Amino acid sequence: MELERELESLEGEIADRLKSVSSLEELDSIRVEYLGRKGKLTALLRRMGQLPPELRPVIGRKANELRQRLESAIQEKAIALKEEGKRKRLAAETIDITLPGRRPALGVKHPITQTLERIKEIFVGMGFEVVEGPEIETEYYNFEALNTPWYHPARDMQDTFYITDSILLRTQTSPVQIRVMESRKPPIRIIAPGKVYRRDADISHSPMFHQVEGLLVDRHVTFAELKGVLAAFARQMFGPETKVRFRPSFFPFTEPSAEVDISCIICGGKGCQTCGWTGWMEILGAGSVDPEVFKAVGYDPEEVTGFAFGMGVERIAMLKFGINDIRLFFENDIRFLSQF
Ligand code: FA5
Ligand code: MG
Repeated sequence: MELERELESLEGEIADRLKSVSSLEELDSIRVEYLGRKGKLTALLRRMGQLPPELRPVIGRKANELRQRLESAIQEKAIALKEEGKRKRLAAETIDITLPGRRPALGVKHPITQTLERIKEIFVGMGFEVVEGPEIETEYYNFEALNTPWYHPARDMQDTFYITDSILLRTQTSPVQIRVMESRKPPIRIIAPGKVYRRDADISHSPMFHQVEGLLVDRHVTFAELKGVLAAFARQMFGPETKVRFRPSFFPFTEPSAEVDISCIICGGKGCQTCGWTGWMEILGAGSVDPEVFKAVGYDPEEVTGFAFGMGVERIAMLKFGINDIRLFFENDIRFLSQF
């Protein structure tokens, strides 16, 4: 039977073609070539009319079955091709997570920040609480309440950045003493770190620098305790061998007052250029709280006593890290900063 044989050979032909198909486009053109409106199978089916009527149902059924087999073979192939394509795409897009990453360059804390953190840690370890006050102050808090009358040299325009006649950039952290005592009752045991400003600029003076204020107020607080606290601080900050020396000094808000030196950590006290051949280096001012200051905040000087101190953080950092020019801290030169 002519038509029947043609159907069979058509089936074999398509099976062969499908084996070698490698893309969906190719598959579609095969579908069109055989099953499309002008396709080979369609053309065969059109010729059914030429068959004797008794054969038509038999051949017709075969042709339809063939058509269905071809359609499902093509569909299967399409699914397989899509799967294959997806697999290839995924393989190509795979990220190799075993590749070692590129490390981002990590910054370090500024040496002043490191020094401030260490100072806070030491005093918190001794039971002090950390408080802060404003950098823009009134002359009352910065001077007046600190027993520094208008004629005191520290009030001179030379030293202080004024904003108005009575508002200024604080020249010291001592005004925080007043703010704390005004708002609390004794006992008080605080430190107050922060920025201060002065019209001052050279190798060891910066117009903006940091201080840490300390204030302890209670009954029967003595100068000996001040000495003990500061000696303990110096040994923790600079090492157990560090010696502490108190020199008589003057501050309007403490009486008696002292400036505190530590044995030079560069030369171990023998004398060198950094300590000016004295073997000692000044790190702070301190003293017993002046009764006038207690009066200004409404404390009774007969009831309570206390001590206060104020240290220069840049000076301490210079000693700690062996830096001989304060301006290096503020130039933001990465070659300097990355050494800490
Ligand atoms: C004071 O500022 C007092 N308020 C300290 C004080 C507090 C005394 C509580 C008693 C009781 P003085 O002006 O000496 O004191 O400054 C304290 C420290 O700040 C100095 O020892 C020094 O280390 C540092 N310092 C002062 N001026 C500068 C500056 N321009 N640049 C960097 N550090 C400075
Ligand atoms: Mg001084």
